[in-house]
Amino acid sequence: MAMILATVELLNHITGVKKMSESQSKEVITIKLSTKLPAKIDFQIGIRRAPNRGFILTKKETEMALKNALRYIPNELHEVLASEFLQELRSMGRIYGYRYRPSGEIYGRPVEEYDGIPEAKALQVMIDNNLDFEVALYPYELVTYGETGQVFQNWMQYQLVKKYLRIMKEDQTLVVSSGHPVGLFPSHRNAPRVISTNGLIVGQWDNPETFKKLAAMGVSNYGQMTAGGWMYIGPQGIVHGTYITLLNAGRKYLGIPENKDLSGVLFISSGLGGMSGAQPKAVEITGGIGVIAEVDYSRIETRFSQGWVSRFSDDLEEIAGWVEEFRIKKRQISIAYHGNVVDLLEYFDKNNLKVELISDQTSCHAVYEGGYTPAGITFEKGRELIEEDPVKFEELVDESLVRHFSVLKRLTEKGSYFWDYGNSFMASVFEAGEKNISANGIDTSEGFIWPSYVEDIMGPICFDKGFGPFRWVCLSRREEDLALTDKTAMEYIDPNLTAMHRDNYIWIRDAAKNKLVVGTKARILYADEEGRVKIALAFNRLVREGKIGMVMLGRDHHDVSGTDSPFRETANINDGSRVTADMSVQCFGGNIARGMTLVVLSNGGGVGIGRASNGGNGIVLDGSERMDDIIKSGLSWDVMGGVARRNWARNENAIETSKEWNKKNGNKGQITIPFIADDNFIKSLVDKVF
Ligand SMILES: NC(=O)c1ccc[n+]([C@@H]2O[C@H](COP(=O)([O-])OP(=O)(O)OC[C@H]3O[C@@H](n4cnc5c(N)ncnc54)[C@H](O)[C@@H]3O)[C@@H](O)[C@H]2O)c1
Repeated sequence: MAMILATVELLNHITGVKKMSESQSKEVITIKLSTKLPAKIDFQIGIRRAPNRGFILTKKETEMALKNALRYIPNELHEVLASEFLQELRSMGRIYGYRYRPSGEIYGRPVEEYDGIPEAKALQVMIDNNLDFEVALYPYELVTYGETGQVFQNWMQYQLVKKYLRIMKEDQTLVVSSGHPVGLFPSHRNAPRVISTNGLIVGQWDNPETFKKLAAMGVSNYGQMTAGGWMYIGPQGIVHGTYITLLNAGRKYLGIPENKDLSGVLFISSGLGGMSGAQPKAVEITGGIGVIAEVDYSRIETRFSQGWVSRFSDDLEEIAGWVEEFRIKKRQISIAYHGNVVDLLEYFDKNNLKVELISDQTSCHAVYEGGYTPAGITFEKGRELIEEDPVKFEELVDESLVRHFSVLKRLTEKGSYFWDYGNSFMASVFEAGEKNISANGIDTSEGFIWPSYVEDIMGPICFDKGFGPFRWVCLSRREEDLALTDKTAMEYIDPNLTAMHRDNYIWIRDAAKNKLVVGTKARILYADEEGRVKIALAFNRLVREGKIGMVMLGRDHHDVSGTDSPFRETANINDGSRVTADMSVQCFGGNIARGMTLVVLSNGGGVGIGRASNGGNGIVLDGSERMDDIIKSGLSWDVMGGVARRNWARNENAIETSKEWNKKNGNKGQITIPFIADDNFIKSLVDKVF
């Protein structure tokens, strides 16, 4: 509380600043919102809306929030809009400036329909794709996914960024701060066109409570990872990662051979939201059986209509029957349970039904803000309680998390394997008062009793070897461009090399058949440094030869190098540096230095404010040779910077990958390889002191 007061005191130093006259405004700001009042918008029925985030500001802060939002608005409109913004703040907890949302549909249109230089056009496609009704979670509130991950804080920022992008020149860089376009600055041709940050807060104040105030005052954005990074491509991005995680969980925990799939294996989890919605699709691709609980019926409808979930029911007996049937047939099936995951798990436990693999993808990174619906109440009741009695809601969440933990404990004791899916589930259970979830039963300094998917799977098997969620968007929106890129990427994967190569080969071979695209024509493919560089160069060549239109390359922030997140991406760093954030910041800086088109650094992403520093990028392939150079140096650094750090943390696979890189690149550079001390020698030496 003291910290929050200190924040507000700091911010209160802002005093009355003189209004600008109309003539002054003309002289000094040429790129601005119009003096014409946009029409009020009609909210389309059936489009999900964000919950009220709570009106938490004091009188003084409320004044500040209004003045902050009005900074975008010409003075002649202040009278009308100030009271409208106040109303938004009181009813939604935020000022979104709904009136400034362009009317009609927003979606990533074919790139040639936008104005500006090629890179700026491409960035506009990405922004609009993140706000597409088909793609975004709460499109009217600019939330793309993960309950609170916004592209911008408000629609005024959207409008202004678009204006800047339309007039941007090839030697300028737009600087964006939590969605706010700070300005368009002169730079040079090989500088990024956009440098963006989201939600960064000075260490002492870097906590969710302070962030909540900052967001309500309109000065900070929770960009999640790819929402504020303009690189979300719908849940496909996660399907591939989930597919790899599930296959490797089966291999690691159940001893399934590398050349076999998950047929006959049951996976239980929760969530059919932005990312979690990938689970049923992924489990079907692995050949297994998935039952995913979801409290919000509208999300079941969405995933069912997309064909990402095959059946749904709110009847647990019926669901158990389907599971049995498909176990016997050894055939894949994805089932949504309309209800609470705690009830689902308790049913399987009470009836002694076999469950091999369990995880959870409720939005526990925003556990009291609606991300986790407690057992015992419906989704709708939960939403009401958040508004009417948030303290009661928090109590119910805590009780439910403890109950959730108990049933998982019973199931794992009976032989199920549980892993945390990077949603802060285990941290939330601990914070709800259940100390037994921590490894030492006291605090979280030694981690938790169950692994996170990064500790056991993604970390050693993917990230330490440089494999990560490389992705691309065919900016033309043409199906045939995507087909040709899929085919080309496949040519660069040798399925006989390792299990990972084979999984990736199968993934890309079947990608079109699996109908993964939602929104723009995008594709994800886990690839390592060499793979990413080769595929990117091949795509740029295709653009150069006119065989496909421009392509936007990017990646999820959930990658080798871009993210420092002790409970997730860096969960398998065990040299004591897990909570440092140097790697992500160096990745960000290095990508800027190498001229990527878009470079982003954000706070929070996936696990919550203060718990992660994450960065991403975008490279617009225009077919030029200039881009070949950026691919070679940029993509290589973007992966190997993180492998180098993982190697320094003594991670075996990263050491091997770094040695290989040194062998191949001896004349260009060198990664520092650690000398490994003998464990027993160190232990016996230190034993004498303690
Ligand atoms: N999929 C991945 O690879 C991945 C990776 C890292 C982190 N995550 C994390 O997973 C979480 C989910 O992400 P998302 O984008 O899908 O969020 P989301 O908010 O869109 O979806 C979560 C879903 O869980 C449902 N839910 C909440 N409580 C429930 C309960 N008790 N029982 C059943 N359903 C419940 C919600 O209704 C919602 O639809 C986030 O915390 C995210 O950071 C996912």
